[in-house]
Amino acid sequence: MKSLYVADIRQWLGDRPISEGLFAVGGMEIRIAATGAPFLSLTLTDRTGTIQALLFDCDSIPTEYKIGDPVLVGGTFSRRYNNINLQQVTKYSGSLDRDDFIAKSCRDIDEMWVGLLQTIGSIKSSQLKDLLLGIFLDEDIEKKFKIWPAAQEVHHPYIGGLLEHTSTVARLCEQSGQLYKADMDLLLTGALLHDIGKLQELDCDLTIAYTDIGGLLRHSVLGCFFVRDRISGIKDFPELFRDGLLHIIASHHGKIEWGAMVEPMTLEAFLVYIADDTDAKANRYRTLIDQQTASEQNIGARDYFLGTRVYAPKVVEEDQ
Ligand SMILES: [Fe+2]
Ligand SMILES: [Fe+2]
Repeated sequence: MKSLYVADIRQWLGDRPISEGLFAVGGMEIRIAATGAPFLSLTLTDRTGTIQALLFDCDSIPTEYKIGDPVLVGGTFSRRYNNINLQQVTKYSGSLDRDDFIAKSCRDIDEMWVGLLQTIGSIKSSQLKDLLLGIFLDEDIEKKFKIWPAAQEVHHPYIGGLLEHTSTVARLCEQSGQLYKADMDLLLTGALLHDIGKLQELDCDLTIAYTDIGGLLRHSVLGCFFVRDRISGIKDFPELFRDGLLHIIASHHGKIEWGAMVEPMTLEAFLVYIADDTDAKANRYRTLIDQQTASEQNIGARDYFLGTRVYAPKVVEEDQ
């Protein structure tokens, strides 16, 4: 059973011993100290965050555990270095609750799923509707899509994150598409499928990790392949919808340097990109504001994803 969380450790004001702390291995690498001696650097994770842990006096890569495994660790937390100096690490083989290791969406999964199906219900083109129902009512896809995270760490990195993000992108597109007279069928299909490649890009067990094919191709490419395969099984699928939809998926990161295969060339692709960017960044703001509210500071450290520091003043309750 897990009783000590990363967030608890981060609140400790001084050095403290840790015995039998249960975490998942989020990353591991052998590094070389200034003295020339090798040491193991582990990233330990749970649903409340990550913390670095160092094991000195180790001259080979431990083979008994790997990334994603649960481990029991003992050592000392160093306030000064904000890490754990490890004395022992052993693979844990007892019972586990995944909810201890990966956070969960605050929104109700079933409600979001019903909303997603309602959006599909609003689509008039029978071919696009067939495509969407064939994908989202596929038992394996439904099961995965309801729990999958949207990212490893940047935005919506939690159980149900992909569904939450996809639902919000579709809701934003419902508004923007009406305002700018977009093709609503194409726009909403693109919104619902823009990140479908994440089911192949990421793996989600006790930790969220990239699959090999995910690292090699990333989710925009995987999403295009996946959707093109599905389209090929639908009779008389209009070429204009096929091209427009694949373009939305290929361009939804907006700029080549941000991972888009091509920059948006249609109104629908532009609106999906803007909705995707808005939701990803707003979710990141929300996370950082919540973290800062729990800390002493009003302005946090520079965030590499947002490219700025986040200001979250403490609200002082006024006396009645
Ligand atoms: Fe994406
Ligand atoms: Fe997205």
